[in-house]
Amino acid sequence: MTQKLYIETVGCQMNMLDSELVVAALRRQGYELVDSAKRADTILFNTCSVREHAEEKIYSALGRLKHAKRHNPDKVIGVLGCMAQNHQKIVFQRAPYVDLVVGPGQLHQVPQLIEDVRAGRGPQLEVSLERQAGSRDSVADSFESYDPLRSPEMRPSPYQAFVRIQIGCDKFCTYCIVPKVRGPEQGRRPEEIYAEARQLADEGCREITLLGQTVNSYSYRDDRGTTRLADLLYQLSDIAGLDRLKFVTNYPRDMTDDLLDAVSSLPKVSHYLHVPAQSGSDAILRRMKRGYTVDQYREMMARIREAIPDAAVTSDFIVGFCGETDADFAATVELVEACRFKNSFIFKYSERPGTKGAERLADDVPEEVKRRRNNELLAVQNAICQEDNEARIGVQVEVLVEGVSKSAAKREDDAPQVQLTGRDHWDRIVVFQGGRRLIGRFVPVTIYDANAHTLFGEVVTDHVGPEVYSLSV
Ligand code: 5AD
Ligand code: SF4
Repeated sequence: MTQKLYIETVGCQMNMLDSELVVAALRRQGYELVDSAKRADTILFNTCSVREHAEEKIYSALGRLKHAKRHNPDKVIGVLGCMAQNHQKIVFQRAPYVDLVVGPGQLHQVPQLIEDVRAGRGPQLEVSLERQAGSRDSVADSFESYDPLRSPEMRPSPYQAFVRIQIGCDKFCTYCIVPKVRGPEQGRRPEEIYAEARQLADEGCREITLLGQTVNSYSYRDDRGTTRLADLLYQLSDIAGLDRLKFVTNYPRDMTDDLLDAVSSLPKVSHYLHVPAQSGSDAILRRMKRGYTVDQYREMMARIREAIPDAAVTSDFIVGFCGETDADFAATVELVEACRFKNSFIFKYSERPGTKGAERLADDVPEEVKRRRNNELLAVQNAICQEDNEARIGVQVEVLVEGVSKSAAKREDDAPQVQLTGRDHWDRIVVFQGGRRLIGRFVPVTIYDANAHTLFGEVVTDHVGPEVYSLSV
């Protein structure tokens, strides 16, 4: 009988990719993906540890499975990813009926570990070494990146794919758990990246997003020299059939001119840069150990605008970080207003045990103040989003059509024209009416309306009809 698999994924794009690869491996073994935990024999959670809330939600979800597991002890329940690496045995302590806990560096072992559980070998724990548990190399080796060559039917979209170019992070921002749970920064071999991109393009994939925690710090050294992100962009641009390249997430200090030149000169690279600022106050940036001042961030923005005048830049901000005063927050608002980000993701500071921030700095901004600042910054950003999107009205853009929009999918409309969704060259979401055959294609669309997060357009049709043609002969 085929095994039924249910997987829930939270967190960043890296996690989405990890889940895709785990699902692909299990499907190859005959598993069938189902959309509810109730119907599944194997239930997996691919987890995130960046904020406490994300972890607590997983424990609540696990709590809801307690009875199901009691009634049906053969169900296999697994916790994968960052929280598995972060909490390790604690997961078994808080939810003793969990069968496997697997860190992001051991995901390739998931099929075998499920088999071990089914064979009665008891709960399985597989995680990487702690950062202090050995030499840098031995710790790095314990985080094995999981990038098997993939099969097209396993991807969520046949036209788009994530490609990992780097794992881990060595920046150690004081608030951040990532260097602990994803281990040392390691660049993937350029030949491997190229081969994967090439295969994806051969299979019909048109857009690739390169992934790394600090993707623009990417560096790979061998006897032929050092390859950087800009070099990869030039190499990947040569691949026929691949028409759009993006990369996330950037680290402000590594936003070098050669990278900006590559983005500006390579037509396939989106004019979209996600470069988190985190705060607009020097005192806070210092406490976060971000490695730059507000002036340096602004100088970087000026270089971006100089090299790529129409670049859409997005950012992340943490509000209510340790010791953040009203004046610090006002400086953040000022930075958002000055930079006019295409969008900002705003988070309330969440203290993470195991970080320098948790060890050395008091989480002293009251929750109420964090919430107020979050809402205020969001309102400032939304007003910018609205204004900038309205300025797009009347403009014609090339949209890579991703699929049927969420609302149309819910209606299960099978009319010939449905609401489609896609993104333009600046990563703006564009929705418009069109036939399903447009999915996976680049389509010219004229924008006629906008709200803060979506552009509404209509397909540009060729108006040179037969009558016009006959007039001109
Ligand atoms: N609390 C709140 N937000 C955080 N981020 C990272 N760590 C924390 C934390 N402890 C945010 C940062 C990062 C984004 C992915 O999550 O803004 O850029
Ligand atoms: Fe976390 Fe800083 Fe690394 Fe980003 S750069 S993953 S915020 S430690």
